[in-house]
Amino acid sequence: MSTPKTLALNNVRPYGEDATNLLIDLESGVIEAINSGPFEADEVVDCEGHVLLPGLVDMHVHLREPGREDTETIATGSDAAAKGGFTAVFTMANTQPVIDQPFLAEAVWEKGQTYGKCDVYPVGSITKGLEGEELTEIGLLARNHVRMFSDDGKCVNDPQLMRRAIEYAKAHNVVLAQHAEDHRMTAGAVAHEGENAARLGLRGWPRVAEESIVARDLIMTRDYGGRYHLCHASTEGTVQLLRWAKEQGIAASAEVTPHHLLLTDEKLVTYDGNFRVNPPLREDRDTVALREALLDGTIDVVATDHAPHGSEDKCVEFEHAKPGMLGLETSLAVVHQVFVEPGLADWRFVAKVMSERPAEIMQLEDQGRPIAVGEPANLTLVDPEHAWTASGEAMASKASNTPYEGMDFNAKVVATWLRGTQTYALDKE
Ligand code: DOR
Ligand code: ZN
Repeated sequence: MSTPKTLALNNVRPYGEDATNLLIDLESGVIEAINSGPFEADEVVDCEGHVLLPGLVDMHVHLREPGREDTETIATGSDAAAKGGFTAVFTMANTQPVIDQPFLAEAVWEKGQTYGKCDVYPVGSITKGLEGEELTEIGLLARNHVRMFSDDGKCVNDPQLMRRAIEYAKAHNVVLAQHAEDHRMTAGAVAHEGENAARLGLRGWPRVAEESIVARDLIMTRDYGGRYHLCHASTEGTVQLLRWAKEQGIAASAEVTPHHLLLTDEKLVTYDGNFRVNPPLREDRDTVALREALLDGTIDVVATDHAPHGSEDKCVEFEHAKPGMLGLETSLAVVHQVFVEPGLADWRFVAKVMSERPAEIMQLEDQGRPIAVGEPANLTLVDPEHAWTASGEAMASKASNTPYEGMDFNAKVVATWLRGTQTYALDKE
């Protein structure tokens, strides 16, 4: 059989709006025609009126390669990404070794491209070895596929080092993503500092440990400029600070995770290590503030902080569990449940916070684009009425540490295409 040259996606609803048809040229990976179908093509998919979104973009994942390939690899992480509807992800630098040199960043990028299921952008560390002492060669790394720098997992606490990092990042036009946590205030902490932690006898991580760093960084961004991005905003106070910053015209962006939008520290009552995460699950008033902030644009994007860990690090006493949760395969369903199902937002909003805005912040030219003729066919097909139950075992990730085990969702990614090539299909599983 000769290689197919065209693909038709018939009976599809872009952004959940009117049904139409798409013709894709597989050689260029570009959308060639819309609407006048149903098209005939070398390959034809009847999309059954499902919702079509621009391929999702995740600014924050941990694919654990190099070093912890027992928990995730670039390949298994790409599978999980494609299954979750993603066509581009940014994988954090806290690997072993840390991504602090160009050849390491280059290797991550090349592996992702060779595997071909998702564009995997390497995040470079801000400081060598994540030690918080010496800056990496930001300029050199920036020439080797690194568009974002972060010590995620750790905070750049030293204000003078942070100032220098902001200035270098600005000079090289790269994003600086901060994990805001004053480590002196969170030493030994495993849960949000509040009533639940007190009742359960867990050491608490106060909101101020995040907010004090956020406040400082926003003021630095005001004075020194650059493209500052806040990782995993988790508190009501952080939202207030971001709102203040946006009112001042300070050009900072921020992300929120699906778990901080949906879950609270009430989940900790069973001491299940799968609910340990950093920053910790907070309280109702925080989730309410985070939801409002995403709706009104104070928070720009949803990012999963997909953090695979093996059962030896999760099925242990809560205090000994490593922080982190899987996120790639459940994020679209969580966002649908929190915003679309109750009628708080539509699919245009989902496209904005999970694809367009992250692509814009990262200055990706071929992602988060409109579904239109001449645009790259990076696409995600979603069935909004497909009831399913989350199960760690059934996930494409190597690890299975999902906090949503046994939870029911109604939206499911049914197919993903990267530049016209199908990277996931539910019916072919
Ligand atoms: O929960 C987390 N896990 N938060 C982080 O910042 C790091 C991540 C990890 O690498 O496991
Ligand atoms: Zn992270």
